[in-house]
Amino acid sequence: LNHFVSVERLSNIEVMKLIRRGEAFKKGATWQPEKQQYFAANLFFENSTRTHTSFETAERKLGVDVLSFDTSTSSIQKGETLYDTILTLSALGTDVCVIRHSEEAFFQPLIDSKTIKTQIVNGGDGSGQHPSQCLLDLMTIYEEFGTFDSLKVAIVGDIVHSRVAKSNMQMLRRLGAEVYFSGPKEWFSEEYMAFGTYLPIDELVKSVDVMMMLRVQHERHHDGKQVFSKEAYHQTYGLTIERASQMKPSAIIMHPAPVNRDVELASELVEAKQSRIVTQMTNGVYARMAILEAVLTEAIL
Ligand code: CP
Repeated sequence: LNHFVSVERLSNIEVMKLIRRGEAFKKGATWQPEKQQYFAANLFFENSTRTHTSFETAERKLGVDVLSFDTSTSSIQKGETLYDTILTLSALGTDVCVIRHSEEAFFQPLIDSKTIKTQIVNGGDGSGQHPSQCLLDLMTIYEEFGTFDSLKVAIVGDIVHSRVAKSNMQMLRRLGAEVYFSGPKEWFSEEYMAFGTYLPIDELVKSVDVMMMLRVQHERHHDGKQVFSKEAYHQTYGLTIERASQMKPSAIIMHPAPVNRDVELASELVEAKQSRIVTQMTNGVYARMAILEAVLTEAIL
């Protein structure tokens, strides 16, 4: 089997192949499937707009039949486990299941199973990993700069709760970028220093090539740590208009979205010239086409 559950498991060559295939799909390349019919199911146990709809768009563009699956009306509501749900979909002949779940590493029992034959794609596991977001972010950076080598990338904000940050810091570092961090120390962990350097945002903003702002993940703040007012967070850690004016002309703004406007960044910056937030959403479809093609055919991974 050929699951796509974390970027750490991929070599740099495999990541670059996926990026280039995503770019090719964006330019109009098509998939020549080996089988006449493939089935995909998208199981989202946490809310999603971009990941869910772009996977479904990618599946339809590839000609994959999308099974209708709604977690709120499935037998999960009768107490059926995730494992038994995927066992069932596998028995029905589903080729790939894209799953988002609040539990970190939810995919492990599924990929360890000898009976489950469906491919598993991680659409985000709690605060663990978000490998498809990582790939679309890498594709967006590569499309802009044509290299990762010595590129300065700042990852800013609620890092400890962000699966996007964890996937991106590892891969960016491995691909040769210089990674920097900023944001509240309460939402940072020393273990990330293995991948980059922590600096105040006012130092970073003038020198980096990418300002990657992260969403404040209110739904994961159950630990009673300090809560900031929106205005205080924006002024202390956010990309304000004033800070953005100090960015290099060639530097870009990224955010995985959804954006808390006027918190992580000023609302006007979402669609500003230097923002690639909308491009990230568009690239999500093509990066996910590359992922699905790879897991369904084992052609790349
Ligand atoms: N970036 C991202 O994962 O967005 P959704 O939660 O809307 O899927």
